[in-house]
Amino acid sequence: MVRINESFLSMKKNYLFIDIAKRLAAYRQTHPDKELIRMGIGDVTRPLAPVVVEAMKKAADEMGRAETFRGYEDSGTGYDFLKNAIAEYYRSFGADVKADEIRINDGAKADCGNITDIFGNGNTVLVTDPAYPVYVDTNLMCGREVTYIDSNEGNGFAAMPDKSIHADIIYLCSPNNPTGSAYTREQLEEWVAYAIENEAVIIYDSAYEAFISDEDIPRSIFCIKGARKCAIEMCSLSKTAGFTGTRCGYTVIPDELIVRASDGSEVCLADLWARRQGSKFNGVSYPVQRAAEAVFTPTGQAQIKENIEYYKENARIIADTLDSLGISYTGGKNSPYIWMKCPKGMGGWEYFDYLLNNIQVVGTPGEGFGRNGAGYFRLTAFSTHEKTAEAMRRLRSIS
Ligand code: MLT
Repeated sequence: MVRINESFLSMKKNYLFIDIAKRLAAYRQTHPDKELIRMGIGDVTRPLAPVVVEAMKKAADEMGRAETFRGYEDSGTGYDFLKNAIAEYYRSFGADVKADEIRINDGAKADCGNITDIFGNGNTVLVTDPAYPVYVDTNLMCGREVTYIDSNEGNGFAAMPDKSIHADIIYLCSPNNPTGSAYTREQLEEWVAYAIENEAVIIYDSAYEAFISDEDIPRSIFCIKGARKCAIEMCSLSKTAGFTGTRCGYTVIPDELIVRASDGSEVCLADLWARRQGSKFNGVSYPVQRAAEAVFTPTGQAQIKENIEYYKENARIIADTLDSLGISYTGGKNSPYIWMKCPKGMGGWEYFDYLLNNIQVVGTPGEGFGRNGAGYFRLTAFSTHEKTAEAMRRLRSIS
């Protein structure tokens, strides 16, 4: 008789954003005439930068000619042209990353989940709560227990290490999804010191680094001394360059990240990951990697910056509205997310229904991101200016 992975049975029935999509589909069926404004899932609306589209078209043409056609990419970890461009990008903000430590993937989400394969089940997994649900879900799927550390109003939604708790694997995300808070250099130094003391590995999600405005907020964990010995970083072009539908990201595992096996021998985590990927992943398509390379050219950087500034203007529109309504929030400055306290003591799901039914504005209930999300609500700045302004007009009308 077949046996299933019973860990799935103890999980929530749906992934958070699938759950929300189902609720919206049901609402649309009963209210076909209502115009929804979607500020829930962090999906972008600006088109790809022109230089990216050109690069993808050119690569597609190359794939159509025998002389330039490409099949499998030998290493499966990404073409050198893209890895070199990303290493150069890291250097531009002072992070110490070599091209051959970068592995190209189809977006950060998959690697975020797949990385669990290279760690044993006895590890203590530490997640800041609230958090991007993938960190928790993928560990629960392996039957691991997760320990939480509180991000809350008291610490500005930026949890710091608790030395009384031991951790082996630590998930950090900065700028944070969902709270929009961003760790300072000093805070990241504390996390790195804690990881080294615990002989732990930090899995650092930097998917929103391009939204950082403050100069003193590091764009990468590898801007911090010691991080090369204790951290893996995952980044994505989804939000940076509008690749949610194009799919490309990268994972950095430094050569110096060495851990001990149970027999005391030293193991390089990059080797384990290479072994895992060799068996389970055949790389990212050539046209997508060429498109990604274009993001890192000077023209590409200028063009994507225009889109990022566009979203940041939306964040300002939302923040100004919440300021004028006296609603407290974090984020919106170094991040495309605004994490607001639900008015009138409402719970996040209650507020979700309230906004949906009264003004047809869709956000994400804080409860979907963990226990400390109760009574909070996440809005994204990824809509258009017009829709963001209209959503805020509607919000004022019911406040
Ligand atoms: C979110 O809304 O939290 C993000 O879109 C999630 C993701 O990128 O997978």
